[in-house]
Amino acid sequence: MAEGAHRSPLAGLIGGGLKLRYGSHPRADKRLRMETLVPQPIIAATGLYVPPESISNDELVSAFNAYVANFNAENAAAIARGELTPLQPSSAEFIEKASGIKSRYVVNKSGILDPAVMRPNIPERSNAELSVLAEMAVLAARDALAAWGGDIVEIGAVICAASNMQRPYPAIAIEVQNALGISGFAFDMNVACSSATFGIKTAADFVLGGSVRGVLVVNPEICSGHLNFRDRDSHFIFGDVATAVVVTEETLASGGWAILGTRLKTEFSNNIRNNFGFLNRCAPEGIGAPDKLFVQEGRKVFREVVPMVIEMIVDHAEDIGVDPRGLKRLWLHQANINMNDMIGRRVLDRAPTAEENVIILDAFANTSSAGSIIAFHSSNSDFAPGETGLICSFGAGYSAGTVFVRKR
Ligand code: COA
Repeated sequence: MAEGAHRSPLAGLIGGGLKLRYGSHPRADKRLRMETLVPQPIIAATGLYVPPESISNDELVSAFNAYVANFNAENAAAIARGELTPLQPSSAEFIEKASGIKSRYVVNKSGILDPAVMRPNIPERSNAELSVLAEMAVLAARDALAAWGGDIVEIGAVICAASNMQRPYPAIAIEVQNALGISGFAFDMNVACSSATFGIKTAADFVLGGSVRGVLVVNPEICSGHLNFRDRDSHFIFGDVATAVVVTEETLASGGWAILGTRLKTEFSNNIRNNFGFLNRCAPEGIGAPDKLFVQEGRKVFREVVPMVIEMIVDHAEDIGVDPRGLKRLWLHQANINMNDMIGRRVLDRAPTAEENVIILDAFANTSSAGSIIAFHSSNSDFAPGETGLICSFGAGYSAGTVFVRKR
């Protein structure tokens, strides 16, 4: 048997439900031999980079309310004539109650909190410098690679899986690959908040298919860059962070997490959108319009995504022979605490404890693709070999991904 090749009882399942049949099939021997050579992918390690500045709800609300007061004062005459609706103030109590968010980390605080600016200040860098998104990714990647402790030559690919790329090309992933001295290939992929699980599945499939022996997946998210801080309904939602996941053949790490199954799902919806793009300059009338930043119908998202995700988790668990009620931990996407409560209750079939249903959005807010990975990274050290948990992300598209893992 070749080094790194093992009989994989889950080989057919990793690919999304294909089961190999033996016995009566005329090519059964050949199939069995192929399965015997399938390298089993694992999550070898994870890493995290947290920006140094954070903004509390009170700070965010006071900047927003200053902007509202200025706007209403400047437009007092039009408001008095009934030509303009006055803006309504925001409230820290509402934010915490409706979302569970108490504060968020950001790459630049001063710009966001300046009522005349209300966006992060992130100066351009020369092409000779690492871009800010790649820099965050590299810091998270170094954390993950150190935790893995393996030889970097075993990493054959880098995937940057995130909601917003700094530029169309060259890929951020190639910049990260270059900065870390990784050979092979690299590319960017964007599946909004589900990017990390889509990236993990892609990486696991690369390993399973024998393309490479190890993949670095990075999720740098500067969500504050696409957040409309002048929109009362959503100005509190996002934060900035970067996470990294090392996926390798099982022979390349001791410990880590067996990947029991990965599954992806998408279903078109307009309820979370961002129309920013390279064709905007061809329609100058739309430049600067609110839809060129993040917009959502939050209530509809809540109503539609929660049942979709519950069904997906329960079906996937059943298909791979995992009893969802026996999961030790849920590391769910971190968008809204009430969504996670509902999903947790249905999946575990009881009210989950705080330990079982990890919440990090109180301190991080929604960090898009990185949320479930922060939860996983920061709350898994108490697992004993054989214990099982679920990484699950969901968001725009709609999109959702499930990754069941078992401690090795
Ligand atoms: N401060 C104070 N009040 C506010 C407010 C603010 N910042 N924003 C909205 N409100 C008010 C609304 O005006 C409304 O008042 P009304 O009842 O008098 O009309 C009330 O609060 C409820 O507003 P609503 O937008 O229905 O809030 P909600 O309870 O649905 O919570 C979200 C809003 C965004 C937190 C919630 O819908 C959510 O998290 N949805 C899922 C989002 C998600 O997962 N997105 C994925 C992104 S990747």
